[in-house]
Parts: sequence; structure tokens; C-alpha cells
Amino acid sequence: MTAPKPPGAATLAAHAGYDPASHQGTVNPPVYHTSTVIFPTVEALHGDDANPFGGMRYGRTGTPTTKAFEGAVAALEGAYGAVVASSGLGACCTALLAWLKAGDHLLISDAVYAPTRNFVTRILANLGVTVEFYDPLIGAGIRTLFRPETKLVYLESPSSWSFEIQDVPAITALCRARKITTMIDNSWATPVFFKPMSHGVDVSIHAATKYIAGHSDAMLGVTAASDKTNYDTLKTGHYLTGQAAGADDVFYGLRGFRTLPIRLARHEATALALADFLAGRDEVQRVLHPALPGDPGHVLWKRDFTGSSGLFGVLLKPYSARAVTAMVEGMALFKMGWSWGGFESLIVPGFHLPARGVRGWEPGILLRLHAGLEDFDDLKDDLIAGFARLAAEA
Ligand SMILES: Cc1ncc(COP(=O)(O)O)c(C=O)c1O
Repeated sequence: MTAPKPPGAATLAAHAGYDPASHQGTVNPPVYHTSTVIFPTVEALHGDDANPFGGMRYGRTGTPTTKAFEGAVAALEGAYGAVVASSGLGACCTALLAWLKAGDHLLISDAVYAPTRNFVTRILANLGVTVEFYDPLIGAGIRTLFRPETKLVYLESPSSWSFEIQDVPAITALCRARKITTMIDNSWATPVFFKPMSHGVDVSIHAATKYIAGHSDAMLGVTAASDKTNYDTLKTGHYLTGQAAGADDVFYGLRGFRTLPIRLARHEATALALADFLAGRDEVQRVLHPALPGDPGHVLWKRDFTGSSGLFGVLLKPYSARAVTAMVEGMALFKMGWSWGGFESLIVPGFHLPARGVRGWEPGILLRLHAGLEDFDDLKDDLIAGFARLAAEA
């Protein structure tokens, strides 16, 4: 007998965590606003102490709303289970805390999201963890950095400012052989475009604030674990550090999740069209987008990813900061803001780029663009007008 064909990403996004029979037929789970859960007997109050997360015991340990969202994300990730957090950064930091202890050696990408970098250098290092940054392009060369006490490798691919693609399977194969846990920040690709568990990763972390919630109206994190052992470590870490997410934000996360594949297809198409247009402009030195055939990460991206999202970079030829400021401040549709993944297009000039210790920055002013859901022609016209301001101030 042949195994049934697994559902596609859009089908999973529409149906995973869907359970009308438990909620009087409603297609979405109700938003459970609660701290207290009332029990009728002393026995029920104490419940199954060996299984503190089973059923509903207290608001922080999970409600049917959070469980529906966690189950949906886990299904799309192909994971054993997932756990919500109050923000993407909360998810990153809690996962690291759940695994690491004093004396452990952590290898973390030099191109990691800057606040995660600050957390490991300013909190974990003070707790006795040895933190070492690695070149995101290191691939199998990471083996030279392993020490007997290496406990964890933390990846982010692509990185959210410089867009390097890592050789995830090469790194995870080496880590598995040495029982080193691997974690990845998968916020850019989401489980629609990259499946960390199929590439050997143990823990996949999302700023659900971005594409999963997708409407720039919630702060949310979610982390998926490959198997029961990793899930138990993760869930215990979240519980002991007091992680919980607000009921409404979890609901927004699940609502956004239902349309994630279709929104991503639009972000992808618009970003690719913009990247093509920008690559042909005289003002541009290089477009940083792994789905472009000339990009240094393209071969790995093509091998491992099934699509690309809306966030990418543009390295300008030398222009003054004044000219770049005139360009970005005058944009009509590309607004300036520290996020991405929502319906709106964004632009950020890289005047203050995150710290790097191993792989430096290419010279030039980097613009980070997020392609929102607007019409491509309008976004293109906005950029053309921006380039005119750039030239006028040059
Ligand atoms: C790659 C990446 N990871 C994690 C985060 C943190 O997410 P949040 O803002 O929800 O804390 C961000 C936020 O910008 C991000 O870009």
C-alpha cells in the first residue's frame, strides 16, 4: 500500500490546528482570556503533577487558543510540537536559555539578528556560557570550531541584513554526529519556504510578529522542536522563565497563519520583480537577494528552499548620507520602520549596521527593503522618484 500523499503547505495552513467540534462548531478557536482555571476537586487541582503541561491548568501553561496555534505551526514545520512566546526575541532567548548552562560553548552566526547577539554577549556570557561567533558562510568548516564543550549551534539563514545563506545540512550533519543541538531563526523563510527539520535542525524559531501574524498588529514568537526530548526541554524552559503570549496576539498569529502561503507568494513575486528592477539601476552596486541567480547564496538557496520572501537588501554605489536621507525620507509607499513581514512596504537605510566580528560589511550604504502587498508598479514608481531625489542631492 502506498502512503497517502502529505497535504501541501496551503492546505496545512488552512486546516492545521482546526477543531470546530471542540468549540461548538466555530471555525476559529475562541480567544481564551484567562489566568485562573477553576477545578472542582483537590485531586483535579493537583492534576497529573508528572505532566504539568497537559490539559488546562493555568493561563500561562496554555489554553485552547495557544494550543491551536502551536499545533498549526508544528504541523507546517513537520515538528513534534511548538511553544508560543511573547515576542520573536523572547522565543530566541528562551530557547537558548533552555539548553545552555555555565561552561557550555555556543557557536552562533556572526550575522545573527542584532538583539539576539546582544542577548548572548550581554546575558549568556555573564552566566558563564562561552560565546563564539562563526562566519555564516563557514559550512562544513564549522567542524574546526567544535570543542568538547560545544553544546549548541545557532543559525539564521538568510541573515536579515546581509542575506547570506548557510549550508544548513552540512552544519547539522556534523552537529548530529557530535550530539550538538542546532537551532535556527527561520523567520525570513517561514515553514512555507524552508523546513528546518528536514535539513536536520532540532529547533526552529520564528518571530511570528513578522510573516506569520502578517498584519503588523501583534508581537509574538513561536518555537518548534523536532522530537519529544527537544520539545520537553523547550517547554520546560518556557515554563520556568515565565514565557506566555497574550491571548489576542496568539489569535492574530493563528489568523495570519491561515493566509501565510498566499501572502508569501505575493511578497515573493513583488520582491523578485523589485530586485530585478533594482539590479538594472545605475545607482545600485549589488542587490542582496538569494533567489537572484547571481547572488552568492543562490546555489544553496535553490537546493534547500522552495521560495523566497519579501525582505532583501540593496547596496548602493557611493552616495552621501544626505542624498540617501533625501531618498528614503521622501518615499510615499516605502515607509521607514524596524520591522517586516506585514502588508506594508518598508525601507531602512543601513547607517548604523549591527556589529560584526568575523565577516565584515561590504563597503557602501545598504538599504533594506520589505516588499509589501501593494501593486508592483506603484512601488517601482516610488523607487524611481526616490532615485531622482538621490541624484538631486548627490
Ligand atoms: C530575524 C529576526 N528574528 C527575531 C526577531 C525578533 O522578533 P520580535 O520583534 O517579535 O521580538 C526579529 C525582529 O525584527 C528578526 O528580524
